[in-house]
Amino acid sequence: MESYINKTDFFGGNNPEEITEKFGTPLYVYNENIIRNHMRAVAEVITKYPYTANYSVKANTNIHILKLALEEGLNCDAMSPGEITMLLKAGFPKERIFFVPNNVSDEELKFAAEHGVITSLDSLSQLEAFGKVLPGHKCAVRINPGVGAGHHEKVVTAGKKTKFGIQESDIPKIHEIAAKYNLTIAGINQHIGSGFLDPEPYLKAVTNLLRIARGFKDLEFIDFGGGYGIPYHKLDDEAEFPMDSFKKALEPILDEFVKDYGKAPLFKSEPGRYCVAEGSVILGRVHSVKENSGVTYAGTDVGMNVLVRPSMYGSWHDIEVIRDGKVVSRDSLKPVTVTGNICESGDILCADRELPEIKKGDLACILDTGAYGYSMCSSYNSRPRPAEVMITKSGEVKLIRRRETIEDLMGLFE
Ligand SMILES: Cc1ncc(COP(=O)(O)O)c(C=O)c1O
Repeated sequence: MESYINKTDFFGGNNPEEITEKFGTPLYVYNENIIRNHMRAVAEVITKYPYTANYSVKANTNIHILKLALEEGLNCDAMSPGEITMLLKAGFPKERIFFVPNNVSDEELKFAAEHGVITSLDSLSQLEAFGKVLPGHKCAVRINPGVGAGHHEKVVTAGKKTKFGIQESDIPKIHEIAAKYNLTIAGINQHIGSGFLDPEPYLKAVTNLLRIARGFKDLEFIDFGGGYGIPYHKLDDEAEFPMDSFKKALEPILDEFVKDYGKAPLFKSEPGRYCVAEGSVILGRVHSVKENSGVTYAGTDVGMNVLVRPSMYGSWHDIEVIRDGKVVSRDSLKPVTVTGNICESGDILCADRELPEIKKGDLACILDTGAYGYSMCSSYNSRPRPAEVMITKSGEVKLIRRRETIEDLMGLFE
C-alpha cells in the first residue's frame, strides 16, 4: 500500500499541518469511522448464539472512545477500579462491565462488588480472598487453557510461562473453594495473548476452554478473550486478521459444545487492540536530522513516553512522512533511524528503516497507535503527556483530551 493516510483519507479532508498548528505535537489523532467499523466487526464474531464483545479498555481508555463502544453496543472488560470508574462515567451500566483483574487487594474486590460489577478471579488465592470478603457472591474464574499466542513473549498470557490464570489441574480446588464460601461460579474466561494474526492458537484455546467448561454446571457465560491482531506492516501489504474464515471455523466448535452442554451460555470475547489500533496515528515534528557513524538519525518529539511499544516490545509501526500537509511519496527510499526526545539510547521508533528522505520541519506520522499508545504514555523526563483529537464522522477535528501541562505534573507535589 502506497499510503494508509491517503487510502483511508485518515484526516477526513483536513490538512495535518493545520491540525498540528492548532493542537501542537506530538498529537494523537483518531478517526471515528475507522474505530466504529472495527468495533462493529468484533460485535459480529458470533451471530448464531447469544454473544457480546467486551471491548478491553486497557487498549485505550479515552472516555470519548469508551462512548463509541457504548454506542456500538459493546460491553467492556476492566482491569482496575480506575477503568471501572471511567466506564461508569462513560455511561456503561454495571451489568455491561466485567472486571478481569490480576493480583488485586481485598479493597479492590469489594470496590467492584459495591458497584455491582462481576469479577473474574485469576488464581486460587484470589478466589479464596474473594470468598472471604464476599461470601455467597457470584464470580467467574480465569482458566489458563494451556495455549498462548501473541506478537511478543511479553504479551503471551496463557500456556506454561505466564503469571495469568488457573491451571486445569487446579480446577477441583476451584469447586472446593466455591463450596466453602457458597460462591456461584457464573462464568469462565481466558485470554491467550495479544496481537496474533493466525487464528489457529485461539481456535485451539476455545476448543480447550469448552472442553473444560463441560466440568462446570450451569455456566451463564464463557469468555474466550481477545488478542486479534492488526497488520502493523500495512505499507508492505501485510494481510489482515482473517475475520471471515475465523468466524466460519469458530461456529462448528460452538455447535458441538452447545449440543453436548444442552444449552448455549452467553459467549463473550475481549478484543482491545483490534477495535482501536488502526484508528489512530501520532503526528510528531522532526526537530533534527544528523549523521552519526554513517547512520542518519531523524529526531522527533515522539519519545518513548508518548509511544512505548517500539522500545518495550521492539514493535514495528509504519511511518509516513508528511511535508507541507502532504504525504511524501515512497518512490525513493533511504535508511533512517527515527528517534524521540528522551534521554535513553533505546528511545527509538525504528532503526535503519527505508523511508522517504526526512527533513527538519517534516511531520512523522506514526501509524496504528490507537491501542496501547496513549494508555501506556508516561511523563518520563518530565514531558507532559500529549493531546488527543478525533476526526469525527462529519470531518470535524475535535479535541478529546487536552495536552498535559507542567503545572499538572507539579500539582501532585504536597
Ligand atoms: C484479560 C485480557 N483481556 C483482553 C485483552 C485484550 O487484548 P487485545 O488488545 O490483544 O485484544 C487483554 C490484553 O492484554 C487481557 O489481558
